[in-house]
Amino acid sequence: MAYAAFRSIGAYVPPKIMTNADFEKIIDTSDEWITKRTGIKERRISEVNEASSDLGAKAAQVAIERAGIAKEDIDLVICATVTPDYLCMPSTACLIASKLELPPVQAFDVSAACTGFVYATSVAKAFVESGMKKNVLIIGAETYSSILDYTDRGTCFIFGDGAGAAIISATENKEESIIDVNCSSDGNYEDLIKTPGGGSKHPCSQEVLEQKMACIKMKGNETFKLAVRTLTSDVEVMMKKHNITPEDINHFIPHQANMRIITAVGKALGMNEEQTVVTVDKYGNTSAASIPMAMNYAYEQGKIKAGDTVLFDAFGGGLTWGSALFKFAPKK
Ligand code: UT7
Repeated sequence: MAYAAFRSIGAYVPPKIMTNADFEKIIDTSDEWITKRTGIKERRISEVNEASSDLGAKAAQVAIERAGIAKEDIDLVICATVTPDYLCMPSTACLIASKLELPPVQAFDVSAACTGFVYATSVAKAFVESGMKKNVLIIGAETYSSILDYTDRGTCFIFGDGAGAAIISATENKEESIIDVNCSSDGNYEDLIKTPGGGSKHPCSQEVLEQKMACIKMKGNETFKLAVRTLTSDVEVMMKKHNITPEDINHFIPHQANMRIITAVGKALGMNEEQTVVTVDKYGNTSAASIPMAMNYAYEQGKIKAGDTVLFDAFGGGLTWGSALFKFAPKK
């Protein structure tokens, strides 16, 4: 049987920085309030016409180089995004494959909001373990600046743009395989985080434009409470299933939505500060890109080494949630 190994990580962040002070100029807020309530100090914003595929292709390039594989050997491309270049088609994964100049290859998007990268990891694992694919490029890429209502003071300051990517490859060595990925959802909570207009339910119209219905609407406080509960229980289930404790985890990488959520979840699970990766102060919430960007940050700091045990923990619109447990297995 083939196993799936997590071979490399990469990321790209656009250089343009938007600070809390910049938000003080456009909404009724303060650096002090944003810092205290979220831990966010700044986030990255893409250039006009710089789309998710542009960010995703740059992150993917890094992941491919670090995995040391030829582009021709990639046989599946999966992009997790809820800010695709185009509402319906082509998929962002197709565009990324083309920007990378890959030969014709199966490519599609997954839509699971902030849990997207964990969903993509589960799909890649299944394709590899079934023997259907050997080298899967997974990407989380978002340009949230394209769906933010910059007059919505309860939401707009949280999100940012960026992309992360990884290569998942077949291996015969069980020791270096992705141990488990568990994903779930509950559409009963659809109204907590939503872009209500522009889709088939409320197609583009004058009303959709005037009400900014194609922008993200979030019930922040209700979402916060569910995020803490779900991110905690999700990992508790994973640890119990594999009979492991926080001491067995080298790097706990939670979704980067809010420092207060990360702290509360870390405390409930018994994860200490050293093992918990935090980038929310630098990049804000980049949804499907948040977890791979955080992993890449820790990797570039020299903290993530071959054989380390990594635990992803994600939560987002849908609602969706999921966790992934694996050994980081760069090719020797
Ligand atoms: O990634 C997907 C999952 N998403 C999340 O996990 C996001 C979770 N939610 C959050 O991170 C937080 O709910 C927010 C950061 C969005 C908001 O923080 P909060 O502590 O839940 O604030 P709140 O909405 O309960 O509002 C508290 C107060 C209100 O004032 P009053 O009514 O108490 O006088 C708001 O009007 O804070 C006020 N407020 C602000 N003040 C300054 C709301 N937004 C702002 C703002 N600046 N930008």
